[in-house]
Amino acid sequence: MSTPWHHRYAQRTQRMGSSMIRELLKLTERPDIISFAGGLPAPELFPVEAFEAASSRVLRQHGSKALQYSTTEGYLPLRELIVEKMGRYGIEASVDNVLITSGSQQALDLIGKLLINPGDLILTERPSYLGALQAWRAYQAEFSTVPIDDDGLRVDMLEEALCGGPKFMYVLPNFQNPGGVTLSYERRLALIDIADRYGVPIIEDDPYGELRFEGEHLPPLVVLDADKLNGRQYNFQNEPHSYFKGNVIYMSTFSKTLAPGLRLGWIVAPASVIQHCVMTKQGMDLHTSSFIQMVAYEVAKDGFLTEHVRQIRDVYRERRDIMLAAMSEHFPPGVRWTRPEGGLFLWVTLPDELDSTAVLEAAINHKVAFVPGATFYPDGNTRNSFRLNFSNAQPEQIQEGIARLGQVLHNVIEPMPV
Ligand SMILES: Cc1ncc(COP(=O)(O)O)c(C=O)c1O
Repeated sequence: MSTPWHHRYAQRTQRMGSSMIRELLKLTERPDIISFAGGLPAPELFPVEAFEAASSRVLRQHGSKALQYSTTEGYLPLRELIVEKMGRYGIEASVDNVLITSGSQQALDLIGKLLINPGDLILTERPSYLGALQAWRAYQAEFSTVPIDDDGLRVDMLEEALCGGPKFMYVLPNFQNPGGVTLSYERRLALIDIADRYGVPIIEDDPYGELRFEGEHLPPLVVLDADKLNGRQYNFQNEPHSYFKGNVIYMSTFSKTLAPGLRLGWIVAPASVIQHCVMTKQGMDLHTSSFIQMVAYEVAKDGFLTEHVRQIRDVYRERRDIMLAAMSEHFPPGVRWTRPEGGLFLWVTLPDELDSTAVLEAAINHKVAFVPGATFYPDGNTRNSFRLNFSNAQPEQIQEGIARLGQVLHNVIEPMPV
């Protein structure tokens, strides 16, 4: 007799579903499909040789340390490097403010474990990052949402949602996943102000901030928050300018700038919060791989990472431009899309009546794939949008894939009554 496992799963698993992204990623393995579905970086940009050399160096010089258990906080030189890197962003932190995580996905899970009681309300953007929704559903969170537009979160609509008493807000200010939009400077200030007034903390998820192709770098929320506490205004010309404390937990990752297979991310937070994160992480995995942290540090140090990120930006900018031009050429009237200034994604909105999940089925028949928008909405109710990734396909594939998708969209939109 087989074990009736379904009686044994914890209640919280009832709201866990298999992610459509993961299901769709299976399709990308079919060589005939041009997939704009995954959030994958361009693999040809991974600095494989630098990793090879760094791995040998780490094993030769520090082999026994690299293969030993280590502290939960993370490898000190890597945390120092992050502190220095964050300093260039205007975040004045010390190593006590930094915890290395196994990808920023672990940071999201860890924050859920640390902060969410069953039934707690979490305020997110609408749409928002699927991985966060998934992680927090497992802690039995409820979601309230505020829409985004081309300037990011509609901060003017925030107050009503805040009256519901959310535990925290989850915001992706730069080149949002999935929307591709960036929170404007004015809205950042207004957001900090309102979060402060309502006493609601912000989780700032920033995996893409370094991948800005054009326009001016905007200060992270964590910096504006520190400035507000300091009674100072951000001055674009005058960095560094603030010290670290406050109402924001910031997180980022090496996944998009070095390689996602490393599974390396980090949290920046007030030292007391980091101490709680450390206790929480201990139950998850004791610490992030010592070997990988040491290798990543060896690769990233001495300016290599900064130079490498420049190269990534150039390649992704070109791919974004090719995708945007192809969309203008091939997509029918009535379809709108965002024009991201960085990152990996753009967001397409179809006429209200269309369901992008049904369009995906037609698209797969035309051998092209994307992620239907409904998956990025906590309630799954908005169905006429989808996400496209432009970092992972070669320029010719982007042109061909968008032409195929244009054909699919013409097929579904033109027969619609006017
Ligand atoms: C907004 C956002 N947060 C977190 C993650 C997780 O990144 P990782 O766990 O690879 O660091 C991703 C990955 O795509 C993301 O888009």
